[in-house]
Amino acid sequence: MAKLIYSAIASLEGNVEDEEGNFDWAAPDGEVFAFVNDLERPSGTYLYGRRMYETMVFWETVSTDADQSAVMRDFTELWRAAEKIVYSRTLQTVSSARTRIERNLNPDAVRALKQTSEADVTIGGAELAGQALALGLVDEYHLFLVPILVGGGKRALPDNIRAQLELLNEHRFRNGVVHLHYRVIV
Ligand SMILES: NC(=O)c1ccc[n+]([C@@H]2O[C@H](COP(=O)([O-])OP(=O)(O)OC[C@H]3O[C@@H](n4cnc5c(N)ncnc54)[C@H](OP(=O)(O)O)[C@@H]3O)[C@@H](O)[C@H]2O)c1
Repeated sequence: MAKLIYSAIASLEGNVEDEEGNFDWAAPDGEVFAFVNDLERPSGTYLYGRRMYETMVFWETVSTDADQSAVMRDFTELWRAAEKIVYSRTLQTVSSARTRIERNLNPDAVRALKQTSEADVTIGGAELAGQALALGLVDEYHLFLVPILVGGGKRALPDNIRAQLELLNEHRFRNGVVHLHYRVIV
């Protein structure tokens, strides 16, 4: 059975964007980017909240010429190869291949996807992922903590969830980012 994995890059206080909606401080450097690519490599399907999709769809059309760094080229290929499901009640059309829209986060449909997928499934967008966490659908978390405090903004993890976690791995990067990999203990 495939796992559902939530990954987020957050400030030390746990925000994925600051109060102005900026997240430029979260942009991965080459070392972090290469690590993220290796995490994404086994995933076959990405579940996105509409806002995260609107950020990530950049990778559908970004130029893949020689100016692009090797890690960006690698991510571009991974992104384009993956199946994408965008959760939205407002989006009329998608602007990437291998992409469909779902109007509701149906827990049974997500469980069925996990049952039938050979490759792992990732989920992104704090609002959507928060609902999946609350529904008990998420099996593992990858949190990248950036050495910055941004004073407020959107939280990577929602309130009102209790879960026992097992730390599976941790990694320190040269730029001070720390990666924490947790499994939800059922
Ligand atoms: N820290 C980082 O590295 C990083 C990287 C990329 C992006 N970001 C930031 O993170 C933001 C994305 O996270 P987010 O929490 O704001 O939003 P999100 O979860 O990506 O998207 C929220 C939207 O998803 C749809 N949605 C949510 N739950 C749904 C449900 N149950 N059924 C159907 N549709 C549902 C709704 O779209 P509709 O309104 O269309 O119905 C909702 O407005 C980006 O905008 C960006 O600012 C941060």
